[in-house]
Amino acid sequence: MCGIIGVVQKNEKALGEKMGIIIRDSLKRLEYRGYDSVGYAIIDRNGRLVIRKAKGKIDDLLKRLEFERFDGLVGVGHTRWATHGPPSDLNAHPHTDCSRCIAIVHNGVIRNYQELRDELASRGHMISSDTDTELIAHLIEDYLREGFEMIDALRMIMRKIDGSYAFLVISCRETDKIYFAKKISPLIIGLGEGFNLISSDIPGLIKYSRKIIAIEDGELGYISPEKIYIENIYGERIDPLSRVKIIDWTIEQIERGGYPHYMLKEIYEQSIAVRNTLASVAEQIRDVINILLSDRDIFITGAGTSYHAALVMDYALKYYLGARSTAFISSEISLYKKIFDKKSVLIAISQSGETIDTLNALRTAKERGALIISLTNSVDSAISRESHYKLYIRAGPEIGVAATKTFTSQVTFLLYLVSELLREQDPDTGSLIKKELEESPELINRYIKKIDKESESLASILKDSRNIYVLGRDISLPVSMEGALKIKEISYIHAEAYPAGESKHGPIALVEKDFPVAFTSLGFEHNHVMVSNIEEMKARGAFIIAVAPYSDERIHRLADYSFLMPSMKTMAASILYVIPYQLLAYHLAVKRGFDPDKPRNLAKTVTVE
Ligand code: F6R
Repeated sequence: MCGIIGVVQKNEKALGEKMGIIIRDSLKRLEYRGYDSVGYAIIDRNGRLVIRKAKGKIDDLLKRLEFERFDGLVGVGHTRWATHGPPSDLNAHPHTDCSRCIAIVHNGVIRNYQELRDELASRGHMISSDTDTELIAHLIEDYLREGFEMIDALRMIMRKIDGSYAFLVISCRETDKIYFAKKISPLIIGLGEGFNLISSDIPGLIKYSRKIIAIEDGELGYISPEKIYIENIYGERIDPLSRVKIIDWTIEQIERGGYPHYMLKEIYEQSIAVRNTLASVAEQIRDVINILLSDRDIFITGAGTSYHAALVMDYALKYYLGARSTAFISSEISLYKKIFDKKSVLIAISQSGETIDTLNALRTAKERGALIISLTNSVDSAISRESHYKLYIRAGPEIGVAATKTFTSQVTFLLYLVSELLREQDPDTGSLIKKELEESPELINRYIKKIDKESESLASILKDSRNIYVLGRDISLPVSMEGALKIKEISYIHAEAYPAGESKHGPIALVEKDFPVAFTSLGFEHNHVMVSNIEEMKARGAFIIAVAPYSDERIHRLADYSFLMPSMKTMAASILYVIPYQLLAYHLAVKRGFDPDKPRNLAKTVTVE
């Protein structure tokens, strides 16, 4: 996701560098988060708001952005990772109001974007970018014009906007303050002598401060060179000094948010990623609902993890809607080539949006007249550019090579789409899926530490194993497939997913004493026969691992190692039930001495056939 930095100082010597250089260096330290555009705003010594911004990487833009030219007492900077609107000079932050007196930088996604945009346009605001961020600047402008103070304006805006955000605001009318507001997206203040900083992330401010205050959800306030003011959305003041923490991590540790690896950080970030996906899905899918409900043949494709997300959607379409959908691995396109025609719709799923196999599948289907809907994480990728409808999971950049948070965000998005497709046919089930999706971020937060501990101790037991089966039925199968993929690619233990019922038709031949066999059961699928499949494996001496609802005593009684998962009623459970496998893969890799962030022979983006 985007990186933000704000700096406010008593005089131009307080930090020992020009404001532009301080901002440039902070943005450099936020680069690891992934970005496509850069920008900053400084109020110079004449009280003039200077803005420089462009699409591209900082090092390539040094001349154009003139960081070294500008100094001042207050400034904000931003690295943008596109969500609303493609990467472009215009969409780069900061954004301003009509009077160009207010500048804002933002990390997050505003859910009621369209509604706000229409409202502001009807009041005559000139909205110049495609971003959700710019709307906040115009909302502030309106409140200030009505005579409200900035802090009151922000409090009212927080009640008006729906979604996730951490934003910084500077104004040419108050040149000694940076205002802020936060919900879900991170925001941290760094304290200094004669200056203060505020950033999305500790690396952004670590050069100048190791004394930090983490802003909590629903809080707003301002920083000035000598003061920190924080209040909550109800206007209650918060004592900032009670929150001060000293950071003693290395820069490397800080970039990984204190986690030893990006993969672990990203696994833990899943509650935020799923929330961000949910924040924008409804608005994005409006146009595709009717297409999917019309009499078209639905195909869903992807590679690796994205294929597993495609399978989850395919199962959901068949199970809940009785749809005749087809999920296929994108490199297997030649098998389906002749089936595509003008009545087909292809949903192409890809985290990177650049996977050549998926791009080829898309092109083949398109040539034969199919309508293309893409679901990617990266905005304006090759796959999204070539699609008729572009959808985004908005999970934030994923740095670990193994897909983790992007899988759960893909599943969240696709199941939400299915819940909307059920609106006419079975609204109760549709609402139940949606409810469980909305509950997922909180469930992830509640369960993740426990699952982490249990996965780590299971990894100690399994670390010398050479094989693992991961078995499931119905919707548990794609979850098992994703689990097995994580284990094999990160820990290099041969892990094979199989339909549990099919395991007796071959795979069982390999099973001997202590052969690890994991069973996934989401609890509501047709799993009554799963118990027999477990018994069959147990009779051959297998070491049984169960990932199943805590209430499913029959399964847990047979298991040698149990993950007691929350009971859920819909396929939304696949989000939570994949986490034990992600964490098991991670701990197996670490215990076996491998770097989980960089598995051998694998690349994050695969652009070869
Ligand atoms: C698995 C993994 C890969 C990708 C696959 C597709 O952890 O990362 O299997 O899922 O290469 O990549 P995207 O989704 O970018 O098309």
